[in-house]
Amino acid sequence: MAETILEAREGRVAVLTIHRPDKLNALNQQVRDDMLEILARLESDDAVGAVVITGAGEKSFIAGADIGEFAGRSPFDQRHAMRSPRIFDVMSTFPKPVIAMINGFCLGGGCELALSCDLRIASTKARFGQPEIKLGLIPGGGGTQRMSRLVGVGQALRLILSGDMIDAAEALRIGLVEMVAEPAELRATTLELAQRIAGFSPLTLKVAKQAVRASETMSLEDGIRYERDLFCLCFSSADKEEGVAAFLDKRPAEWTGR
Ligand code: COA
Repeated sequence: MAETILEAREGRVAVLTIHRPDKLNALNQQVRDDMLEILARLESDDAVGAVVITGAGEKSFIAGADIGEFAGRSPFDQRHAMRSPRIFDVMSTFPKPVIAMINGFCLGGGCELALSCDLRIASTKARFGQPEIKLGLIPGGGGTQRMSRLVGVGQALRLILSGDMIDAAEALRIGLVEMVAEPAELRATTLELAQRIAGFSPLTLKVAKQAVRASETMSLEDGIRYERDLFCLCFSSADKEEGVAAFLDKRPAEWTGR
């Protein structure tokens, strides 16, 4: 039973709420362990089609790594704490869509966690930043790499070198989040999209995510070849036959994930 993460189900969507409100949901070792344990379970749960990650309370999504854990730590201890599997990589390669529902402060490791998700939907009150520079550190949860890929090297350097925070409108403008909603609408907006996504074939969702994620590591030429192979692989699925038949029959498709 996870101590630091609340788990709820809404239809085919699992909602995971990081629950350390007194520490603005900072990521400590326990949160990381709990998250890995829950994700491992959800991966093989056929009743779950998508995962939403959020933070407890109205103030914070995740205010970064737990800074208290850094004090006095040796490089060897830190390396051990950063051993694989890491939540950031597990989320970005998770076979089901993962959506960050960003309800407040989204800083440091919290921002990196959001960057590892497939989609980011933010409250208009959310604030974003990579403030590690103020601690004599750099982002260590993939921020230097995933931030640059999502918003470009220029904006990534601006955030990482200055440690400045930006608001949700600016995050939307630079492409750090995909959608913004009023605080009162955040949950409904996120769950409506998550439910719709989770209603598609789990098999096709997995392949679609894999193809897009490949663009982060492959050349354009290799990626386009890979996409063609995955597209053709879809022709081996019952869900492709069902999707095409349902369109031609003018009826909703009934996906089986096969
Ligand atoms: N790690 C550990 N504790 C944290 C934390 C973090 N990343 N972020 C916030 N907290 C704790 C605070 O220490 C405080 O605990 P306390 O009540 O026991 O003193 C509590 O959460 C509330 O935070 P507080 O700073 O009082 O709230 P605020 O509204 O004044 O400021 C922030 C909010 C987010 C601007 C501020 O907490 C902050 O700068 N946090 C650190 C962000 C950061 O550098 N993250 C990257 C880490 S690598």
